[in-house]
Amino acid sequence: MTREITTHSPEETIAFGRSLAEALSPPKLVLLRGDLGAGKTTLVKGIAAGFEAANEDDVTSPTFTLIHEYRGPRANLYHIDLYRIDTSRELETLGLDDLRSESSILLIEWGEKFPRFVRERDLEIALERAGENGRKITIDSKP
Ligand SMILES: Nc1ncnc2c1ncn2[C@@H]1O[C@H](COP(=O)(O)OP(=O)(O)OP(=O)(O)O)[C@@H](O)[C@H]1O
Ligand SMILES: [Mg+2]
Repeated sequence: MTREITTHSPEETIAFGRSLAEALSPPKLVLLRGDLGAGKTTLVKGIAAGFEAANEDDVTSPTFTLIHEYRGPRANLYHIDLYRIDTSRELETLGLDDLRSESSILLIEWGEKFPRFVRERDLEIALERAGENGRKITIDSKP
């Protein structure tokens, strides 16, 4: 299944993330694809808010911390940024497998660097710039 929408501001992307939360149920592994600044983290603000797991303003990029955890009544969200992770050895030290459970949703930025996540993903969300504030968001779930 493929779904596609275009947003025209960060606020619209956050609102779309909120609506996505309604359609998402754990367990899931979600790959968030798109260039630097495409809006992956912005979308997670909406998803986390939709799950009542965090206020959108409290969701920040896990650029240096690599993993942020947001616990909600319906799911535990793990927002992961693998931009700075290059080797499978470094990846192993993060222990992402330990985070996977019946109640968890992993939202992974730059996860496509590692073929295993491309294989194991349940959902892929790609964000593409369309002008200054436009973002084309494409959602692909496994057939
Ligand atoms: N329609 C839009 N949707 C999302 N963000 C937008 C939009 N228009 C402009 N922006 C801006 O684009 C930037 C998106 O940054 P964000 O941190 O979400 O990107 P990212 O894909 O997570 O990047 P990185 O790979 O560096 O983590 C923000 O500064 C945001 O304000
Ligand atoms: Mg980000």
